[in-house]
Amino acid sequence: MRYTRIAGVGHYVPERVVSNHELEKHMETSDEWIVERSGIRERRFAADTETSTDLGLAAAKAALDNAGWKPEDVQFIVYATLSPDMFFPGNGVLLQRDLGIEGVGALDVRNQCSGFIYGLATADGFIRMGMYDRVLLVGAELHSSGLVMTTEGRDTAVLFGDGGGAVCLEVTDDPDGGRLLAHNLHADGRYAEDLAMLAPSAAKRPWFSASMIDEGLTTTKMNGREVFRHAVTRFPQAINEVLEQEGVQASDIDLLIPHQANLRIIDAVKKKMGLSDDKVFANLQKYGNTTAASIPLAFSEAVAEGRAKRGDLICMAAFGSGFTWGASLFRF
Ligand code: UT7
Repeated sequence: MRYTRIAGVGHYVPERVVSNHELEKHMETSDEWIVERSGIRERRFAADTETSTDLGLAAAKAALDNAGWKPEDVQFIVYATLSPDMFFPGNGVLLQRDLGIEGVGALDVRNQCSGFIYGLATADGFIRMGMYDRVLLVGAELHSSGLVMTTEGRDTAVLFGDGGGAVCLEVTDDPDGGRLLAHNLHADGRYAEDLAMLAPSAAKRPWFSASMIDEGLTTTKMNGREVFRHAVTRFPQAINEVLEQEGVQASDIDLLIPHQANLRIIDAVKKKMGLSDDKVFANLQKYGNTTAASIPLAFSEAVAEGRAKRGDLICMAAFGSGFTWGASLFRF
C-alpha cells in the first residue's frame, strides 16, 4: 500500500514586526480592541522588495532542509495562496522557477484559509495513486500591501499578516509509521461574497477600472460576524468528521492545529471539542491571520517548540472564504 508521510516542515516570516500600537497611528483602533476581539498582538509585514513567492520560497527551503531534500527531489508542487504575485499565472510556477526545477508540475490552490488543507488532501491523493513520490506543499501569503491602513479599512487591516509555511510529503509503505490518515473538504458557495475581494474580475466589463478602486471592490470585504458564526460550527463538524473517518476520539488527539483567524474562535472550538489548552496550538498572537500560511506556519512552530512530536496524532482544521472548510488527521 502507498501512504503519505510528512518528511519535513518549515516556515518563514518577514522580519518587520508590526504591533497593534503601530496600527493605532494609522487608524482609529486600539490594542485593547484588537486583543479582546481577536487575540492578535502583532503581525509581520513583508519588506517592500519581498513578494509572496519569496515568502513561499523561504518557507519551502526551510522545509526542504528539514526533510533533507534537495530541490531536485521535488516531483510536484502544490501552492496555496490568495495573494499571488500575478493575476495569472499562479505562484506555483514562480516557485518552481525560483527553485530551479524546470519541468516539475505546479498546481495552484485557491481556497484561501482552507487552502493548506485542500492542498494536503490533493497532494496525498497524488502520492497514494502513484503519480508522485515526493510533493512540496506551500502556503504563503502577502497581505500587508493590500490592506487599507485607514479607519475605513480597520475591520480587516488589523487582522491579517504575512508569512509562509511548507511541508515535504513523501510516499511510505509503513502503515504503522507516520502517515496522513484522513481528510474532509467542504464548501458553501452561497456565502462567497461574505469574505471576498470582488475585483479585478472577469465578470466585470472591463476586468479592471479606476472606478473599482473608488467603489472599494479591490480590497478584502468581510462580514465578520457571519464568518464567525459559521466558523464556530464548521470547525467542530470538520474535526468530528475526520475523527469518525479514522474511528478515533477527540481525547486521542495529541495536538489540534486550527487555522489561526481569531483566538475567540479557537477557544470556542477547544471548548466544544473538550480539549485542554496544551492540546490546541495558537500563534496568531504573533502573526495575525496569514490565511493559507497559517496552518503550516503554526505546525512548523509547534514542531520547533516540541509541541508536535514524531508519533503524535495531529489534527489540522480550517474555515474561511468561500465559505470553505475541512480537516486533516495524521500520525506525524
Ligand atoms: O480567516 C478567515 C476567517 N475570518 C474569520 O474567521 C474572522 C471572523 N470574525 C471575527 O473574527 C470577528 O467578527 C472580528 C474580529 C472581525 C470582529 O469582531 P466582532 O466582535 O464581530 O466585532 P464587529 O465587527 O461586530 O464590530 C464591533 C464594533 C463596530 O462598531 P459599532 O458598529 O458597534 O459601533 C465596529 O465598527 O467594533 C468596530 N470596529 C473596530 N473598532 C476598533 C471594527 N473594527 C475595529 C477596529 N478597531 N479595528
